[in-house]
Amino acid sequence: MEILDGKKVSNQIKEELAVEVAQMKARGEKVPHLAAVLVGNDGASLTYVGSKVRSCEKIGFESTLIHLPEETTEEELLKQVENLNKNTDIDGYIVQLPLPKHIDEQKVLMAVDPDKDVDGFHPANFGKMALDMESFIPATPFGIMELLRRYNIDTEGKHAVVIGRSHIVGRPISILLSQKGKAANATVTLTHSRTKDLKAITVQADIIISALGVPNFLKEDMVKEGVVVIDVGITRVPDETRKRGYYITGDVDFENVSKKASHITPVPGGVGPMTIAMLLKNTLLARERHNA
Ligand code: GUN
Repeated sequence: MEILDGKKVSNQIKEELAVEVAQMKARGEKVPHLAAVLVGNDGASLTYVGSKVRSCEKIGFESTLIHLPEETTEEELLKQVENLNKNTDIDGYIVQLPLPKHIDEQKVLMAVDPDKDVDGFHPANFGKMALDMESFIPATPFGIMELLRRYNIDTEGKHAVVIGRSHIVGRPISILLSQKGKAANATVTLTHSRTKDLKAITVQADIIISALGVPNFLKEDMVKEGVVVIDVGITRVPDETRKRGYYITGDVDFENVSKKASHITPVPGGVGPMTIAMLLKNTLLARERHNA
């Protein structure tokens, strides 16, 4: 069994990006600039956004954090988005999700300039991705594909079972895995909460991508020997004995599923760090496309 070490691979990617940034600087070019908009004080979102901003600084990108209060109106947020669209100093930006309930998420994501949409959430980018056209690929699925690639995991002709149909992970990863090309060509089954007899499907899987957010959901009896398991779940479980008052766990019963798996991602230290690395990669791509 081999652990798919997202932390290690993401550090490699960040080192590669740092080299590219240093070369940009040496040529006297502007370095990539990522902005992040965070509305409210959701604990997990604060952690993610903080981590994204710190990673930028580490590799030599510029970063801007726009932290707005929970009470921000949709109109005010749309104004911020408009300003970011106009600001030629910003190469790419993200609006951290989830947004407060009084704001229409779709309306906000539609307002983002697709050329700066480094999350790849705008329909123009999502549509291009589905049609194999150049676009921004959402960071989490992009990170999963990159992790499989860097560990030389062959997906061609394999049965990949995706659990969860979210717009951020399940839906896009099912598209990417089914695409033509050396790094994909999988046969994909996209399963979700209404799927009947999920276990009958997961036991057939060569590759399982679980993006559900339910701790310990995927058990040993649901997988076959030699399966590749990608755990996208990140759930905070309250635990008073921990310093932070919680611990992080994935969707997979790691202890038991890892006994049957050929490859498996840990949580934390698997897909999470890859997401950040690929967001940075998208920001560099945005900078290069703006230069071109
Ligand atoms: N919330 C959870 N994951 C993500 C992500 O990849 N991007 C944004 N903007 N918000 C998120």
